[in-house]
Formats: sequence, structure tokens, C-alpha cells
Amino acid sequence: MPAVGGIGPGSGKEYPGNLTPFVTITCIVAAMGGLIFGYDIGISGGVTTMTPFLQKFFRKVWEKKEADKSTNQYCQYDNETLTMFTSSLYLAALLASLVASTVTRKFGRKLSMLFGGLLFFAGALINGFAKAVWMLIVGRMLLGFGVGFANQSVPLYLSEMAPYRYRGALNIGFQLSITVGILIANVLNYFFAKIKGGWGWRLSLGGAMVPALIITVGSLILPDTPNSMIERGQTEEAKAKLKRIRGVDDVDEELRDLIAASEASKLVEHPWSNLLHRKYRPHLTMAIFIPFFQQLTGINVIMFYAPVLFNTIGFGADASLMSAVITGVVNVAATLVSIYGVDKWGRRFLFLEGGVQMLICQAVVAACIGAKFGINGNPGELPKWYAIVVVLFICIYVAGFAWSWGPLGWLVPSEIFPLEIRSAAQSINVSVNMIFTFAVAQVFLTMLCHLKFGLFLFFAFFVVLMSIFIYYFLPETKGIPIEEMNQVWKSHWYWSRFVQDLDYPNGGMEMSKGGQGPKNV
Ligand code: BGC
Repeated sequence: MPAVGGIGPGSGKEYPGNLTPFVTITCIVAAMGGLIFGYDIGISGGVTTMTPFLQKFFRKVWEKKEADKSTNQYCQYDNETLTMFTSSLYLAALLASLVASTVTRKFGRKLSMLFGGLLFFAGALINGFAKAVWMLIVGRMLLGFGVGFANQSVPLYLSEMAPYRYRGALNIGFQLSITVGILIANVLNYFFAKIKGGWGWRLSLGGAMVPALIITVGSLILPDTPNSMIERGQTEEAKAKLKRIRGVDDVDEELRDLIAASEASKLVEHPWSNLLHRKYRPHLTMAIFIPFFQQLTGINVIMFYAPVLFNTIGFGADASLMSAVITGVVNVAATLVSIYGVDKWGRRFLFLEGGVQMLICQAVVAACIGAKFGINGNPGELPKWYAIVVVLFICIYVAGFAWSWGPLGWLVPSEIFPLEIRSAAQSINVSVNMIFTFAVAQVFLTMLCHLKFGLFLFFAFFVVLMSIFIYYFLPETKGIPIEEMNQVWKSHWYWSRFVQDLDYPNGGMEMSKGGQGPKNV
């Protein structure tokens, strides 16, 4: 019986090609698409602790916070309009990623990136000049549309561009720029909050125009992926491009397989309903469960609300923003570890190790907060060692996420879908991610208010579930060319029953030479 996470013998194919400067630079520029997402994640939490911002737009929250000083700390930020400000973006991103599926498939990955940049720019502009809450929310929605387009297209772009042996590392460039975006936002919040006159929040929100410009200009200068060119009938151009990207002349075998993948994909008239076919069950399951679990790690409680959270557990406003900067640095550094290891140690090892690490930290943080704040949320005087322990374990938790579920939540889905469902399945991935990012952002403050320290145990429970899921259901995908991914399902103890009945020509290969697709699509 095939092993739990083992890979099959594979097809033994090795496409020639190097990690050329061309592909490296291209992937670095494309990965910048993650900046807009990261900047957003990092900026809102800090802005919502800035007093002038609260006074102007969310006066009730501010008054409650002022009045509440010595009573229940767990509930001081619990306000629906405030959470709506943070989370409206993710609903918009969800909608946009569905539209982006068609744009990405019909017009190429680049156009989706361009839309992403432009919409994001418009959102940042409106937010920077906001005079009323509705302007904030409209701006956030435009930002969300931008994120939806970018997150749908950038990971696909990277996985298609990269030589398969370096696919993990190059794809994680996307997550790296998400984390850099978060960190920049945290640092800017820290300084802008100090601006006399209280208009620093305008710079924080308007600052999103910079990453927007980067991805807009980037999308104009980037080349299209060969897969995307073939999908749109430009075979000759695709061949020339492939030679350039791989840095070798002998690209015939890879090109043939790309064309075969494209032929098979053209036979599919309804990519969405196609996803429901039995043979795509493993792909659909991963497109739903990976982003679901990624959000149920609880990471965004830290990313969105770190300053709020630290403030709640007794840090002053300045120390709270500073602690958010510290977690931001850890997030970036740990992502680099993942870039180093993902194509060496594999995806499964990182997922499982990260899971254990997050679980331990969640238990410790729950215990610390429970011990001091108890049920009534009134901590009294908090000793310094206590603050250090909480921040330390939150940092170890962030590191665990940042080398596992963070990058892999974007990498694995982008590399497992066959071309005929790739764009649609990636949209499902982004949408599910956004629904649960929204849900966590929307209910976190209320949950903190009601579940208190138990909130951390709630997420810990999901970390256990997701680790079991990975152990049994996710095959290793390191070092397998994308167009041959079918092999890993075929030799998997569980998924083989769904894909085994496929009748591929050419000895079980996903893509045949000679341009024929699978026979029973
Ligand atoms: C997740 C985000 C999260 C970020 C933290 C991303 O992979 O999708 O929701 O905030 O990682 O670095």
C-alpha cells in the first residue's frame, strides 16, 4: 500500500533548465504582489489603536475604552463598526478573486496583477483622504478588490515560471513579501502614531499607494508565463519565452507537456462545475481545507490585533505597537527559513513541525493570560516577566506559522492543480482564505470578550485537527513538475481511489506526448 505521505515513483522526467537571472528577477518582481496584502494586514490593527483615529471615526469605542480602564479588559474593543472596518476588505477580496479567475484564464496572469495594483491604489487614495466612516469602508473594499486579483494571480504566476526544483523557494517569495508588507506597516504605524496633530493615521492608510504602484508597474514589465501564452494560442512565442526563462535551447519536452496540458484544458467547458468531478476530489479538498486551516491557526488574531491584544493584556500604547514590530520581524525571519528548507525538507515536514510548535505556544499563552486575567478580565498589576513570557511565546508561535502554514497555504494549492482547473481552483483557495480571514477578523474581538483566554485553546484545537489532516491526506509535492502532479495522488493511500480510474495514455502520465489529454475528462 502506498505510504501515508509518500510520493510514487514519478515519471522520472527532468526538464532541462537553470535558475537563470531572468527567472529569478521576474519572480522577485512578481512576488512583490504580496506587499499589498501584507501592508493591509499590518496597518489596520495599529491604526485602530491610534487615539485620534478612534476619536474621529469610532468615538464610542474610544469613550468605552477611556471609561473602562479598570474593569473587564477583554471587552474594551468589542465594537461592530470597528471590526467591519478591518474585515470589509476580505469580503471584497473574496468577490474579486472569483472574477479574477476568468481574467487570469482568458487574458493572462499579468492583467489580473495590473487590475490588482490599480484597484489597490484607488482604495489607498480614498482611505488616506477619508472624512467619514463610509469613505474608510469604500476604500477598504477597493483595497480588497485589489488583493483578490493579486492573490489569485501571483502565486499561479510564480509556480508556472519557476523551474520545478526551485518552485517552493521562488513561490514563497510571495509570502515573504506579505510578511515584509506587514512589517513595514507595523514600523510605519509605530512612527506615524507619534506625529503631533494626530493625522499620522492618514499616512499609514495612504502609504498603501506605494506597494500599489510597485505591483502596477511590475505587472506592466513582467513577461507572461509560457503556460498562459499557450493557453491563449501563442505557441511560438511561448517556446521562445521558455528558452529565455530556462536558459537552455532544449525545451521541447517541457513545451510538449505544456501544450498537452493546454489541449486537455480546452476540452473543459465549465471549469467551475468541472471541479466537482470525482477525479478532482483531492484537489477540491485541498483548495478548501488548506486555506480554511491556515486561517484557523489563529494567526490573524496576532497580525490584525497584536497592538490591541498587547494593549488589552496591559501594555501601554507605545509598547503595544513596538511588540507588533517585534512579531513582524520574527515573521519575516522565519519565512526565510522556509525559503531555505522547503525544497530540501519538503512540505509535509514543515507543516507538521510548525503545527506542534504552534500548539505548544497556544497552550502556554492561554495559561499565562488565564492565570493573570482569570474570568473577570481584571489583572491588577502586571509584572515585567509576565509581559516578556507572553511576547516570547507569541513570537515562537508566529515563527512556527511563518515557516509552515503561512507560505505553504499559498504554495501547495498553486502547485497541485492541473491546468484545466488551475485558475478556478485557485479562486476557491483565495475565496475560502478570505471568508475565514473575514470571519476571524469579524468575531475575534467578540470572542476575546466571551471566550477570554479560552480563545487560544479554541485555535489550538484546530491546530491539532489540521496536523492530523496533513499527516494522513497531504502527499509530498516537493521536486515534482507541476504538469506531472497526478502521480502523487495516484500513489497515495487514500486519494488513489479517486484518480486511479483515470485512463491516461503514456503509462499513467498526466500529460501525454503528442498533445492528447487524458481520455476520460
Ligand atoms: C496569510 C495571512 C496572514 C499572513 C501572516 C498569510 O499567508 O494568508 O492571512 O496574515 O500569512 O504572515
